[in-house]
Amino acid sequence: MSGADGCLVMCSSFPCATPENGTRDTSPTIVLDHGDPTMYESYWQKMGNKCNITFNGNDSLSYFANGKSLCWFLESKLEEQIKRLHKIVGNAIVDNNYIVVGTGSSQLVQAALYALSPSDQLEPISVVSASPFYSAYPDMTDFVRSGLHKWAGDANLFEKDGPYIELITSPNNPDGIIREPVVNGEQGKLIYDLAYYWPQYTSITSPANHDVMLFTISKCTGHAGSRIGWALVKDKEVAGKMTKFMEISTIGVSKEAQLRAGKILEVVSDSCLDFTLENFFEYSRSLMTDRWQRLRQVVTDNDIFFIQNYPRQYCLFTKDVCESHPAFAWLICKGGEEEDCEKLLKEHKIQTRSGRRFGTDSRKVRISMLSRDEDFNIFLKRLMTIKGCINKK
Ligand SMILES: Cc1ncc(COP(=O)(O)O)c(C=O)c1O
Repeated sequence: MSGADGCLVMCSSFPCATPENGTRDTSPTIVLDHGDPTMYESYWQKMGNKCNITFNGNDSLSYFANGKSLCWFLESKLEEQIKRLHKIVGNAIVDNNYIVVGTGSSQLVQAALYALSPSDQLEPISVVSASPFYSAYPDMTDFVRSGLHKWAGDANLFEKDGPYIELITSPNNPDGIIREPVVNGEQGKLIYDLAYYWPQYTSITSPANHDVMLFTISKCTGHAGSRIGWALVKDKEVAGKMTKFMEISTIGVSKEAQLRAGKILEVVSDSCLDFTLENFFEYSRSLMTDRWQRLRQVVTDNDIFFIQNYPRQYCLFTKDVCESHPAFAWLICKGGEEEDCEKLLKEHKIQTRSGRRFGTDSRKVRISMLSRDEDFNIFLKRLMTIKGCINKK
């Protein structure tokens, strides 16, 4: 990698990834580009058969669920366990909210955009989020070119005169920061994406209480493959429109997935109350704490990257003062503006996602902290080797 004056010059050649015994490292690239939450497998392995459920051939044939919810396909077991878990963790107000279930919170982002977009306007409503924003938002907004809404980029640069929808991700993906709305215009509608507002990532400082809040089992328990997310919505009309969106796109959400998710959430809640079970959040928080400490050590030692510190805050759930341990590390290359951190790490067989995808620059990358132990350990080893390749001009 070329370096301008005063920049770090980094060796991108293969020897950087050569193990100590001198043999060429032919092992595959470690993929830390996605937030695939396989880290949680170890907990669920320990839980053995506690989450098992069975389905008979005559179960779940109907499109309709057994509950009385406005969201007519929401299984009552899932609804009950969502409410129970939020009450135990204290991260969101659930009473007097409608619950809408979705195929992952990805589908709910789209449903919420549909529901909050005016249908009587000639122009699509602008959708914004403060940079660095979750890299999927631009596509979620524009992919089908609905004409109802259009991606308008960084909320910090948005002229607040007209109507708009702001997506607020808190803690934020990619950088783990706790966020508030930034536009604060009179005609704004807000969607709070709270995928990471769980105690293993951050302190629970108060129960969230917003008009539209999105959660997902993917980042809460690690069951991304079940594809279950839920929205807590105050306004009946908005919840009704979101339900309609789901009805038109998929005629509801898989009952098997909902019932499995209900069971998983039940076991998580039980683990918080029953001292004979290993508390899910304590277990995952200690894994995250350990990973973050080790990552920070490597970053300090090699001195070519920077990761920010997070404020320590009192957590109402754990009842102690904790630092955040975000699901992603937001790594910043200390070199000059032309540095391409994604490329550098790729040369060392670490696949990450460039800051450019999050509306910022290539000096930054997002790295998943949620991989299996084995991959995380290889990642740290490879990151350490970059140190030996640095020359300061
Ligand atoms: C901020 C945020 N919102 C939503 C999602 C979508 O989650 P899922 O569709 O798995 O529920 C993700 C996944 O990475 C995310 O990071």
